Parts: sequence; structure tokens; C-alpha cells
Amino acid sequence: MMSPISAISAIFFVLLATLFFKIAIPPLNFPRNIPTIPFYVIFLPVFFKMDQVELYEKYLREPMEKYGAVKAFFGSRWNILVSRPEFLAQVFKDENTFAKSGNQKKIPYSVIATYTGDNVISAHGDIWKLYRTSLNHSLQRFNEAPLWKNAKKFCQLICNQVDVASGSTKVGPLIQRLTLDNISEVTLGFDFGTLNQEKSSLHEHLLLIKKQIFHPLFLTFPFLDLFPIPMRKEAFKNVESFRKILVERVRQNMIENYQFEQTDFAASNLIRSYNAEKINYTQLTDNIVILLVAGHENPQLLITTCLYLLAKYKSTWQQDIWEECKRIVDGDSKGLSELPLLNSFIFEAVRMYPPLNTIINRKTSRLCKLGHDIVIPKDTYVGYNNFGANHYRKSWGSTADEFQPQRWGSDIDTILKTWREKKTTAVLSSFHGGRRACLGEKLALVELRVTIFEVLKQFKLSLSPSWEEKMTPGGPLCPLNLELTCERRT
Ligand code: HEM
Ligand SMILES: *[C@@H]1O[C@H](CO)[C@@H](O)[C@H](O)[C@H]1NC(C)=O
Ligand SMILES: *[C@@H]1O[C@H](CO)[C@@H](O)[C@H](O)[C@H]1NC(C)=O
Ligand SMILES: *[C@@H]1O[C@H](CO)[C@@H](O)[C@H](O)[C@H]1NC(C)=O
Repeated sequence: MMSPISAISAIFFVLLATLFFKIAIPPLNFPRNIPTIPFYVIFLPVFFKMDQVELYEKYLREPMEKYGAVKAFFGSRWNILVSRPEFLAQVFKDENTFAKSGNQKKIPYSVIATYTGDNVISAHGDIWKLYRTSLNHSLQRFNEAPLWKNAKKFCQLICNQVDVASGSTKVGPLIQRLTLDNISEVTLGFDFGTLNQEKSSLHEHLLLIKKQIFHPLFLTFPFLDLFPIPMRKEAFKNVESFRKILVERVRQNMIENYQFEQTDFAASNLIRSYNAEKINYTQLTDNIVILLVAGHENPQLLITTCLYLLAKYKSTWQQDIWEECKRIVDGDSKGLSELPLLNSFIFEAVRMYPPLNTIINRKTSRLCKLGHDIVIPKDTYVGYNNFGANHYRKSWGSTADEFQPQRWGSDIDTILKTWREKKTTAVLSSFHGGRRACLGEKLALVELRVTIFEVLKQFKLSLSPSWEEKMTPGGPLCPLNLELTCERRT
């Protein structure tokens, strides 16, 4: 007979062992002919000073380049991560087999799923089509005036903020304010107001929930949100109230706008769909939130990366782009879109540091094959690693890790043609591609060109001597706590 105590410890031991094996070893039905990345790899940046680029180089590059796909532990489960263009193209194309299955399905109990819900990015099938048709048109044709106006405000704020003694400034928080104001004015139809006053209540609220959502512990182990942890209960409450306030704010503005029917904001189209009872209030909220999230976070990351690269290549690219930009007048977005140096620089930045690095939101709907011989069981999460794809040596050659805007071509037609080609063949996957391609690419690129133009008009940028050159350790990819020296042009 076992004593009750030893019985309990035996059960405990078995549970612990099961948990360990679930984490340490991929499921047995996963394909055997691709390598496994050790499970502890994703935890390394938590314990060591290591960024995602170093992590990729050390643990992922070799297996990924050799096999094109690997088994990797992420978000409390084992997944298959893909980087080889042929595999990526297959995943992007075969929507029915590699079906979108975002956080609302993967971890519905989590704070992050409560935040973004069932939106255009994560939905599948007919519901996705419905959302996409509500948004597509207005996200391709938008009012650029707020982008120009806000870029100027942004530069003014840099001026005010630069430390007189060192000329140095941390640009991160300012970039966030800029991108928030832009996206809310351009797609949601109201001014977030973060550039006019440092403290806007909606902005404070957003900063608070972002901290709670991107908490490393809960991001790595989302299942913890199943437990009644007071801190997380608070997070749920904050997220719920943010969603409510945001949507009411958007609707209020639309209702007050006597020309509502003529407005063509992405949000006005969503509201029209809601008024026509095509989508319900939850769906309206989910999509307004995702417009705000995708619309400000990704450009925020990319602007940060571009300012970093401009500062890093100060005497070459920054100087040359400024010479090229000089002849453009304010408001001429078209002029900016035709500049070879500026555009190849931006495309190369998108390639080098894809703002969204690892995306795992597709689940196989049946037993299937990736390529010729990688057999993937049903209900397996399949994701893509953009850094891997964009640095794949077979695609980009031996200079894949070097920053070389000239690889895109020297005249604008060649540059744009190369850009389209790399995207359609999934050789460059930063904006996804195919039917599920990013709807905000055009908007993001306009925003980026205008911001770079306005910043270079006023400042010469260099990296602050005190800034340590590192990228973020995990999640969204951009320089970590970037600090720049901004010298006024005279
Ligand atoms: C630098 C800027 C941006 C990057 C790198 C980026 C990247 C991406 C990526 C990788 C996806 C596919 C996500 C997936 O696989 O699940 C996506 C989808 C999407 N993005 Fe962006 N994005 C950017 C800016 C924007 C902006 C400014 C908006 C505007 C609101 C936006 C709206 C969307 C939407 C609506 C989708 C979903 C498309 C669909 O599934 O039908 N994005 N984006
Ligand atoms: C979206 O809009 C563009 C241009 O307005 C159009 O070419 C495209 O076919 C539309 N549909 C989708 C699903 O992207
Ligand atoms: C907002 O618009 C301004 C002005 O065009 C631009 O400088 C800035 O980069 C934009 N912000 C974002 C986040 O795109
Ligand atoms: C809204 O519609 C979705 C999709 O049809 C449905 O799953 C959800 O329960 C609805 N929510 C409400 C509050 O009616």
C-alpha cells in the first residue's frame, strides 16, 4: 500500500513529467524529416542579453536554410515554422488547408485574444471576406493630409525634446505618438491627440494595456490567463474598457459628422456595415481595434528601423537620400514615391528587419504535405519566420545579411518591379502576400516616405554614442530603445 503522501507525490511527479515532455519534445506525429529547434531557445533572451537577430543566427539559421521548415515551441505549443519561399508561397496560397486561426481560436481565454478578437487579420472564410470588403477600398484611397501635418508636428517635438547638452533623444515614445495620430486620423476619422498634448487619456489607457499584453511571462505562457490572477483580472478589465471607449469615440465622431455618408474612412465603412446589420457590435469593435493596432504598431516599428538605418549609414545613404529629396516640395507624396534612393532604402529596411518577425496563426484543416515530402498532421499550427525568409541565402545570395539598397535596382521602375516580384514569389514576406496580403502596405509606405522626408529636412541624424546597438529580444522587431543625436540643419 502507498501512503497518501507518496501517492500524491507520485501523481505530481507524473504530471510534471508529462508537462516536461509536452514542452521538451514535439508531438510524435509531427514530421520527422525536418529538424527540431530546442524548446529552451525561445526563453534564452529572457535570461541572456541576446536579441532576435543573434538568436536566429545561432539557433535557427542553419536548420532553417537547410530544410526550409523547422519544428519550434512558441506560445505554449509546438508549431511548424516556415521560411523557404516555395513553402511560404504554398502556405499563403492554400487558404483552405492552412486556415487562418488567430488568437481568438488559439488562446481564446487570453488577454490578447480579448483585445483584438475576431478581426480581418485572423478571420477565415466568408467572415474574412465580409470584413475585407468593408475595408479594402478605403485603405487603398485615403487622405494623406494628416500624414504631412503630423510629420511636421513630430519634428517639432523632436526639436523640443532634444537634450541641449548631448543633442541626444530617445525617439521611441515620440514615434508611437506620431503613428497613433496618423492612423486614427486617416482610418478612424478622429484625432487621437497625442501630438498636441503629452497626456491624452486614450493614449495613457493604450500604453497601460500594451504593457499588460506584452508582459513577457504571459506572452510566453498564455495559459496562465486561465487562472484567477488579480493582475490579469485587472488587465481584462482595462482591455474591455479600452475597446468600449475607442469604439464609442469613433462612432460619436461619425455621428457628429454631418457628412458621414460621404466619408470614406475605413472605420466609416465598418460602421456602415454595422448599420446595415452585416456585422454585429463585437465584430465592429474587433475590426476597429485591429485597425488601430496593425495601423500604428507596424509603421511605428518600421519608422524606428528606418531612422536607425539612416543614422547608421549617415555619410552614405542619409546624405544621398537627403540630396535626392531636396527638390521635393511639401505635400508631393507622388514625387516621393518616384525617388529611387529613398524607395530602395525603405524596401531594404523592410527586408532587413521585418516589423512582424514570427507569425503563427494558421492551423492545418487536414493531413497535408508541405513541399514534396513533409507530412503535416491535421490541426497543426503552421507559422512563418519573416527574418528567415528575408535573409535566406538561396534567395538573396551571400550578401543576404548586408544592408544593400542597391540590390533593388537603380531606376524606380526596376526597383518597383523587383519589389512586386519578391513579394509575389514569397521571397520577401514582410507584408504577407496573395489574397491575404497586408491591406495597409500603401498607407504604411506613404507614411514612411513622408516621415523620412520631413525628418531629413530638419535634422542630421546619428546614433547616440551611449546607445548600444541591439534589436528587440523577442516579438515585434526593431532597434531596442533607440537613441539618436539630432542635429538641426541650417
Ligand atoms: C510597416 C507596416 C506594416 C507591415 C510590415 C504589415 C504587415 C502585415 C502582415 C505580415 C500581415 C499578414 C498577417 C498574417 O499573416 O496574419 C498583414 C495583414 C494586414 N495588415 Fe498590415 N502591415 C503593416 C501596416 C499596416 C497598416 C498601416 C494597416 C492599416 C490599418 C494594416 C492593415 C492590415 C490588415 C487589415 C491586414 C489583414 C489582411 C487580410 O488578412 O485580409 N497593416 N500586415
Ligand atoms: C482591393 O482593392 C484593390 C484596389 O482598389 C483591388 O485591386 C483588389 O482587387 C481589391 N480586393 C482585394 C480582395 O484585395
Ligand atoms: C504621421 O504622419 C506624419 C506626417 O506625414 C509622418 O511624418 C509620420 O511619420 C506619420 N506617422 C506614422 C506613424 O506613420
Ligand atoms: C457576432 O457575430 C459572430 C459571428 O457570426 C458571432 O460568433 C458572435 O456570437 C456575435 N456576437 C454577438 C454579441 O452577437
